[in-house]
Amino acid sequence: MKTFAVIGAGTMGNGIANVAARSGLKVILCDVKPEFLARGLQAIDSSLNRDVAKQRLSDEDKNRIIRRIRTMTELEAVREADFVVEAIIEDADAKLALLAELDEITKPEVILASNTSSISITKLAAATRRPDRCIGMHFMNPVPVMKLVEIIRGLATSDETFAATRALAERFGKTAVEVNDAPGFVSNRVLMPMINEAVFALYEGVGTAEAIDEVMKLGMNHPLGPLQLADLIGLDVCLAIMNVLFDGFNDSKYRPCPLLKKYVDAGWLGKKSGRGFYRYDVSDQ
Ligand SMILES: NC(=O)c1ccc[n+]([C@@H]2O[C@H](COP(=O)([O-])OP(=O)(O)OC[C@H]3O[C@@H](n4cnc5c(N)ncnc54)[C@H](O)[C@@H]3O)[C@@H](O)[C@H]2O)c1
Repeated sequence: MKTFAVIGAGTMGNGIANVAARSGLKVILCDVKPEFLARGLQAIDSSLNRDVAKQRLSDEDKNRIIRRIRTMTELEAVREADFVVEAIIEDADAKLALLAELDEITKPEVILASNTSSISITKLAAATRRPDRCIGMHFMNPVPVMKLVEIIRGLATSDETFAATRALAERFGKTAVEVNDAPGFVSNRVLMPMINEAVFALYEGVGTAEAIDEVMKLGMNHPLGPLQLADLIGLDVCLAIMNVLFDGFNDSKYRPCPLLKKYVDAGWLGKKSGRGFYRYDVSDQ
């Protein structure tokens, strides 16, 4: 494999492009607007600069990594890719349309992976004529730091596709864990209801955001409190995942907290928008 393509240059897409370029692959990074690509490249640059400052990476290596990444607004550019991961917004219709298009554009042997947090891989795969070569490749945020890649097998995913995807995750320095296709997989089936419950605790005035996060950090040994983590993930992403759990299980225990919906309606999406449960200086992102 030589060329790896990432669709979506947001929080996750630029992180995935970063680790792929670091592993020596040529990377095509696609998004719908040049400014989104510029922001993605800026995030990659900042992440690499942090490693240069810590002397984990030389300036020369950093420049070599950056040069491996080509940014494109035309999806046609992925025609030459040997493996594609999509990391666009968590919206089933948008992902289904994208996968159908990728199926047309890419070589038939290419694996189409989705970084979806919760949408059925089986359903996404059915939008293509190669469901055996579709798979979930769920990276964690921030991608360069987090070790896990949750690999999700859809109903038709072949053993060859699974093995190639696991090998790629390992090439990126990650640990792959295999799970089956179910709403939220394992990671978000367990994590998101906890975050949603923390939002309910805030909504009902059980504690301040700081108090809720302190309890979980000091009492449960979590490195981040659930509300801090929600801000890092993006509140729109959290809401989308809760909706997938709610619809997927038809169970009211997964209903998203009204306060989460209200924040998303207000555009308070967490760290990426400068405000969520906490306030952030957007200039240093
Ligand atoms: N944020 C997290 O912590 C996290 C963790 C794991 C997985 N995910 C998943 O990763 C995916 C991306 O999440 P994110 O947080 O990076 O979102 P984001 O909003 O930061 O970025 C999404 C990017 O996709 C682009 N985009 C939208 N439609 C597109 C299209 N048709 N073609 C090309 N680009 C398109 C947008 O312009 C945007 O730049 C989602 O499926 C999400 O559920 C997110």
